[in-house]
Amino acid sequence: MEPGTAGGADGRPAAAAPAGGTFSSAAAVTLALRGVDYLPDTAIASTVFLAERLSKPVLVEGPAGTGKTELAKSVARATGARLIRLQCYEGLDEAKALYEWNYRKQLLRLQAAHGADADGTDEWGRLKDDLFGEPFLLARPLLEAIRADGPVVLLIDEVDRLDIETEALLLEVLSDYQVSIPELGTVTATRIPRVFLTSNNSRDLSEALKRRCLYLHLDYPTPEREREIVLTRVPGMSEHLASQVAQVAQTLRALDLKKRPSVSESLDWARPLLVRGPEDIDPALLNKTMNLLLKHNSDTAIEKKERSPPI
Ligand SMILES: Nc1ncnc2c1ncn2[C@@H]1O[C@H](COP(=O)(O)OP(=O)(O)O)[C@@H](O)[C@H]1O
Ligand SMILES: [Mg+2]
Repeated sequence: MEPGTAGGADGRPAAAAPAGGTFSSAAAVTLALRGVDYLPDTAIASTVFLAERLSKPVLVEGPAGTGKTELAKSVARATGARLIRLQCYEGLDEAKALYEWNYRKQLLRLQAAHGADADGTDEWGRLKDDLFGEPFLLARPLLEAIRADGPVVLLIDEVDRLDIETEALLLEVLSDYQVSIPELGTVTATRIPRVFLTSNNSRDLSEALKRRCLYLHLDYPTPEREREIVLTRVPGMSEHLASQVAQVAQTLRALDLKKRPSVSESLDWARPLLVRGPEDIDPALLNKTMNLLLKHNSDTAIEKKERSPPI
């Protein structure tokens, strides 16, 4: 059995131990995340801190491109933990989320055994144990996170894309941090991984899943924070230009657009500005580069109509 596999006398596995704290305070979270170029606001920092204290998963919800996935990645980087990512999509099932048996390898083993059988040197009982043993198991992200030896950040990305049945499976795993494999036994986490679930809010998640998690809403940043994000993520950017980028993004988000520009789009826009090196963003430049910020023709038309004189 694996190191993380444990069974009690009553057949129930022992409970997993909490992850153990790395952060002494929310301020320490801020410092650590800034150290890896992620700029949290106070809500982010205190939720990450609390989640660790309570050993609870964090459900991060909000519009696309606001730093949800990046938050989990940055926590992993800041704490030296291994990042294990489960990218959710419609149709993702237990075999891809938890584990499956490597049928191909099992078949090869069977064929090899068939040859051996001819000389009477093999038998089915031994073979069966062998076929459903560790070497034939394909661990998928949830199982991998549970049986990992070292510190782990489990990122369950875009959980709102999952089918209800897989969401229920997820809930089960996040309740006990254990996975039962009939042929092998129950695998229990020796330490609870830090878990981040992200959602773009395309559908409502179950109340049960929400209850299990701490909730963090990530919205577009304030212009001050966005300015700082731009300065951090686009080295060489002047403070003046970064302020303008943040201001333009803020102005666009106030319009009634089909898709508001996200932080990633501000950054995509800021980078070529840096190469051109203009002092100010003028209307001609804005026209030429607007396709980096707005991705729908109707939105570009709205922006042109509503543009106020200063830029
Ligand atoms: N607070 C932040 N600090 C630093 N960079 C950020 C922050 N928020 C967003 N970003 C940037 O925006 C990009 C998009 O974020 P991402 O996590 O992919 O968005 P989401 O998962 O919410 O769709 C990141 O790669 C990162 O460069
Ligand atoms: Mg994401």
